[in-house]
Amino acid sequence: MSTLGIDAEAAGEAGETRFTAQAFGKVNPYLGAGPARADGFHELATIFQSVSLHDTVEAIAGSAEPGESAGDPRNPNVELEVRGLDAESVPTDRSNLVVRAVEAVARAYERACPGAYRSFPRLRLQLTKGIPTAGGMAGGSADAAAALRIAEQALRPGAQEPTRSAQQTGLPQEPPVAEGLPGRAELGPECGDPGRPGLTERELLGLAADLGSDVPFALFGGTALGRGRGERLERLSAAGTFHWVFAVAHEGLATPAVFRELDRLRAAGELPEATDPAGGASAISEALAQGNPRLLARALHNDLEPAAFSLRPELARLKAKGQEFGGLGAVLSGSGPTMAFLCADAGAADAVVRRLDAEPAVRLALSATAPAGGAGVVKHTGC
Ligand code: C5P
Repeated sequence: MSTLGIDAEAAGEAGETRFTAQAFGKVNPYLGAGPARADGFHELATIFQSVSLHDTVEAIAGSAEPGESAGDPRNPNVELEVRGLDAESVPTDRSNLVVRAVEAVARAYERACPGAYRSFPRLRLQLTKGIPTAGGMAGGSADAAAALRIAEQALRPGAQEPTRSAQQTGLPQEPPVAEGLPGRAELGPECGDPGRPGLTERELLGLAADLGSDVPFALFGGTALGRGRGERLERLSAAGTFHWVFAVAHEGLATPAVFRELDRLRAAGELPEATDPAGGASAISEALAQGNPRLLARALHNDLEPAAFSLRPELARLKAKGQEFGGLGAVLSGSGPTMAFLCADAGAADAVVRRLDAEPAVRLALSATAPAGGAGVVKHTGC
């Protein structure tokens, strides 16, 4: 598995610290959707696996310029710049989940430690996209998870005190179970103590779930089963490396529209009624545990696929094409409109990418391996 994480190092200028976090995309080899709940969300059982395609979130934490606000719990001093793949379609204001993630951490620290905002540094964030946007690969969610990890360190009360020590924090070993989320940060009474811990993993999971259904998984990456909206996670075992190809269609598909279409097709009797969403998950987890791509290819399933195909019939044709070109199996990626093709090995994946890239219905074809990591802290050096 690749290294996960935030790598924070001296930014060069006195008083500034640089944080770098990789934000990995994901594939859902299994997605079972139950009926709509009272809150409008659908009860899911989905298997996530993070993939090597990633964005990078960098942040430079420094002091505010003269005349600027040092920080505010509702409106922290954050600037966001976006570059890389599809950058022109990514907002840089607070509609971007990266900014909302920083705000969520700021509020959590302020709740646990009133007045903490006075020491929040100015955060200059740069997001470099490598994951196609609006493709059902959870790029925005991964960016949010990386930003949560960065903000958890950068805004931590006491973190701004000058220190020359390097801190190495391993990835959490415990499974990412997000049940019974606490409502407040477990900061302890000494808010200014640089030695006391910041937000706990459970607290971060709570903030992540509020930001979006896929954000909790992106904090951890690897392979997991998600229940509820997808935010209640349980680590799954996976062996070996899987080779995927992602074929991104020209126009995005809005997730709510795909869920609505699923409800419509079910109500009209065009699809069977929703049953236990976890129904087909065990065949997938078995194939993942064995590291067997042929077994996995046969079991791939996404309940949202017929809904996305109903809205975009060309995706069904694309599914057949990618398998003609050598994909062992195919499945809609998340809520689409990207199609994910599982391949036997890296060579087969390259060949499928080349053939799909020439298809008019395909905006972009990319290969990736799975599983990859999540957004965990590796190193933190202040200067
Ligand atoms: O949580 P997220 O922001 O990804 O959800 C976007 C939308 O997708 C929701 O507002 C809802 O319409 C739909 N959704 C759903 N059931 C889920 C996840 C998302 O209906 N489990």
